[in-house]
Amino acid sequence: MNIILLGPPGAGKGTQARQLVETRNMVQLSTGDMLREAKDSGTEMGKIVADVMARGDLVTDEIVIGLIREKIEGDNKGGFIFDGFPRTLAQADALGDLLAATNQTLDAVIEMEVDDDALVTRITARSTCGNCGEGYNDQFKPQPADGKCSVCGSSDFKRRADDNEDSLRNRLMEYYKKTSPLIGYYYAKDALTKVNGLGEIAEVQASIVEVLDR
Ligand code: AP5
Repeated sequence: MNIILLGPPGAGKGTQARQLVETRNMVQLSTGDMLREAKDSGTEMGKIVADVMARGDLVTDEIVIGLIREKIEGDNKGGFIFDGFPRTLAQADALGDLLAATNQTLDAVIEMEVDDDALVTRITARSTCGNCGEGYNDQFKPQPADGKCSVCGSSDFKRRADDNEDSLRNRLMEYYKKTSPLIGYYYAKDALTKVNGLGEIAEVQASIVEVLDR
């Protein structure tokens, strides 16, 4: 089953996708993670996208569609979770074409609804273990008091360069201008289901699983 998690920055797409990877053997395709990996490893593409990402602007369709094209032909185990992709109508059309070309279907588009105030709180409080990627949040899931990641024991915690207020404002603006039209796009294709993204992480996961099991 291939699904899209659609929602603004901080909606919880990554958090929910990681749980589905563990519980349902799905494959998370996060274009944000792929771009950060390219940036951190200093590839040519990484250098091109670094400033764009830091400002909170969208990277070009050409680059992100290329990233997804590379992955979509690989083993999809329990199905792909598209996390942060597509983000424009051109990306949505390209995803449809790529899935059709590989005889795959898009089974659900799950829109995670969260109000803007909660997004700002979530994003500015976010940190991640630099070793295993476990997510933390100063408000909802603080880093352990001993300063070590509860999963892998590393003390290397990171905050994202674009998790500041200026950049977040821009990311939100990009979402409303360029990504939110996808809500109508997938509604018209009868693929859209909305879930309340404001509950506890486990409650949101239960709502998503209910959609997948329908
Ligand atoms: P990307 O990495 O995709 O970032 P984003 O969409 O801004 O989303 P986030 O990762 O910030 O949020 P999330 O929804 O995953 O929330 P999370 O689960 O972490 O993109 C970054 C940049 O890359 C873009 O700005 C752009 O430049 C570029 N890019 C990427 N894809 C692109 C594309 N397709 N086209 C063009 N450019 C692209 O949760 C956030 C926090 O909230 C965490 O601390 C978490 O613990 C907490 N939390 C989560 N759920 C809950 C809950 N239910 N209750 C309480 N806290 C919660």
